[in-house]
Amino acid sequence: MTASRDQAASWQNRLGPRAQERVALEEYRSRSRAYRSYYWLTRRFLHRCIRVCIHLSGLQALGRRNLNSIEVVNHEVVLPRLSRTFDGFRILQLTDLHLDLLPGYEETIIDTLNRLSWDLAVITGDYRNSNLGSFLPAMDAIRPIVDVLLDRSQLQGIPPLATLGNHDEGAMVEALEAMGLRVLLNESLSIESEGQRLWIAGIDDSADFQSYDIPRALEQVREGDPVVLLSHAPDVYSEAADAGVDYMVSGHTHGGQICLPGGLALMTRTRAPRKCASGAWREGEMQGYTSRGTGACGVPCRFNCPPEITIHTLRSQGLQ
Ligand SMILES: [Fe+2]
Repeated sequence: MTASRDQAASWQNRLGPRAQERVALEEYRSRSRAYRSYYWLTRRFLHRCIRVCIHLSGLQALGRRNLNSIEVVNHEVVLPRLSRTFDGFRILQLTDLHLDLLPGYEETIIDTLNRLSWDLAVITGDYRNSNLGSFLPAMDAIRPIVDVLLDRSQLQGIPPLATLGNHDEGAMVEALEAMGLRVLLNESLSIESEGQRLWIAGIDDSADFQSYDIPRALEQVREGDPVVLLSHAPDVYSEAADAGVDYMVSGHTHGGQICLPGGLALMTRTRAPRKCASGAWREGEMQGYTSRGTGACGVPCRFNCPPEITIHTLRSQGLQ
């Protein structure tokens, strides 16, 4: 699927110079016979093999039940630069939905959301299962979730925020924003209260597309203000820490999705170290959190690695 020329100009302009990295890879994925062959012979074949193994072992129903048992993780993080005004500010994170993998899974997510409250909702990418083909089924499935996020939005003038992942296309931006999400394309915005600001920045994908641009995303940030960075993958943990980000929120790894007992991941698909594969971590002065993901990819099962919806509660040190 490709964007019209005007739509393309719009999301590419917002991404900045690194947009060419995304455009080049999207074109390669959609046009290259070699890539399609590679994709079908490796990823699809691997997923088929895993499905057959799970089926033959009789664990399919358990894996499906595990996927439908979303865990709500409450994570509190103290940010030294956060004003007391924002103490207790709650960011709800959904990520790695891959919604076209398991029809109806959006209802499981909505059931969980209906039990929760938050101040700002964010979705950190990967809306569809495949890297190829139409993204419309995933867009149809996410619409009722976005409706819930919009209905329950607590902030005047700040919509639920989103970033793109390595399974997503630039052409999705228009569809997502038409629903009411705001996609951060190497961009940021500030939330203001009582003269204090909290910045939320979002970068493009660092796992496959390499179209992220941290300096551009932080361009508008006022010196000394706290910044939360949304990044689909944790791969850029070191660059984000060097750039002065206070808290980095990621997904992408799925926590391994199929793990050994005890939660030991067999694969994490990130260049970041194991400490960044799931849960809370730290790099220098920066704190970070990698969600295990809300959905599943390739195989609609999870083992020893429940899906999660995360509520990040920001805490100040009470000094400002
Ligand atoms: Fe994902």
